[in-house]
Amino acid sequence: MAESSRSQTVTLSPNGPEIPALGVGTWSWGDSLFWQYGKDYGVDDVQQAFKASLAAGITFFDTAEVYGLGKSEELLGQFIQGTDAPVAVATKYFPLPWRFNAQAVADTLTASLKRLQLPTVALYQVHWPFDFLMGQKTLMNALADEVNQGRIQSIGVSNYSASQMHKAHAYLAERGIPLAVNQVQYSLLHRKIESNGVLGAAKDLGVTILAYSPLAQGLVTGKYTEETYQPPTGARRIDPRFSKDNLRKIEPVIATLKEVGQRYDKTPAQVALNWLIGQGCVVPIPGAKNAKQAKQNAGALGWMLTDDEQGKIDAVTKPWL
Ligand SMILES: NC(=O)c1ccc[n+]([C@@H]2O[C@H](COP(=O)([O-])OP(=O)(O)OC[C@H]3O[C@@H](n4cnc5c(N)ncnc54)[C@H](OP(=O)(O)O)[C@@H]3O)[C@@H](O)[C@H]2O)c1
Repeated sequence: MAESSRSQTVTLSPNGPEIPALGVGTWSWGDSLFWQYGKDYGVDDVQQAFKASLAAGITFFDTAEVYGLGKSEELLGQFIQGTDAPVAVATKYFPLPWRFNAQAVADTLTASLKRLQLPTVALYQVHWPFDFLMGQKTLMNALADEVNQGRIQSIGVSNYSASQMHKAHAYLAERGIPLAVNQVQYSLLHRKIESNGVLGAAKDLGVTILAYSPLAQGLVTGKYTEETYQPPTGARRIDPRFSKDNLRKIEPVIATLKEVGQRYDKTPAQVALNWLIGQGCVVPIPGAKNAKQAKQNAGALGWMLTDDEQGKIDAVTKPWL
């Protein structure tokens, strides 16, 4: 197995928190609108996912105030109370139209910290680049104030374009604070950030990309196939990416991931996540609903695909660039 030549950890800001180059996404923890929390899986399953992640050295968890309407933060907070292990939490502020002044940022953060039962979070992100009445400058200044007060250790954005990243970065630079991350959709079946300037901007500005939906919501794990067709649960049922037609289209990708994975005794999910980490400055945050998924996803760390293998996977996923 090729040992990694790349770092397996990432520092979110110069003196700030260090996180592993892989995290865990907790959108499905407590969410029954999109996912099927409370039906197919429940609190015990996601608590086991939390424990299995920590046992495998994955100490970075991404949540948001809107996930499960606060339930995801609440569950994460409960689980953290039950461990002595250091845990780094990233959560998100949703820029709603009626949140138009700096006090709204402070109040929203107060509510998140309460649900998380924490005095501070490693990373606080703006969920979407909506401006409404507040404007980015006021927003970035409000976040910078929270860094100075110690309630957040680093600042991130999410779903920002390259030019929006540059603006946020410049506003924060006026306060002497770096922009730590842009959290965007990035998987082998969604490679848009390589062509729309976001990955390039991240490299230029020293910003980490947190790759969301890095398993294409389960598609690259190889468990959804045309032959053994089993529709996914929840809202994915009506997603055309899970149609038989699309499953046929992605078959060459799954075959390549399996073939490469066999050399390392790794699953398609582990190879897909390792490929993302190999792009540099990318930290995938796969969602895990149970211990088995969490443990498997953690196995994407600690080794690295060769350049040839990276190239082979690059070639077969070019249509998704
Ligand atoms: N900032 C944003 O706007 C935004 C948007 C979306 C997501 N996110 C973040 O990104 C995180 C991850 O994204 P995501 O949940 O959309 O998609 P994902 O990580 O690509 O896929 C997660 C789903 O794949 C399946 N899965 C996970 N590991 C597996 C494994 N090892 N083997 C087989 N199946 C596995 C599970 O569903 P099944 O078992 O049901 O197939 C799981 O719920 C979220 O939790 C959230 O923190 C952020």
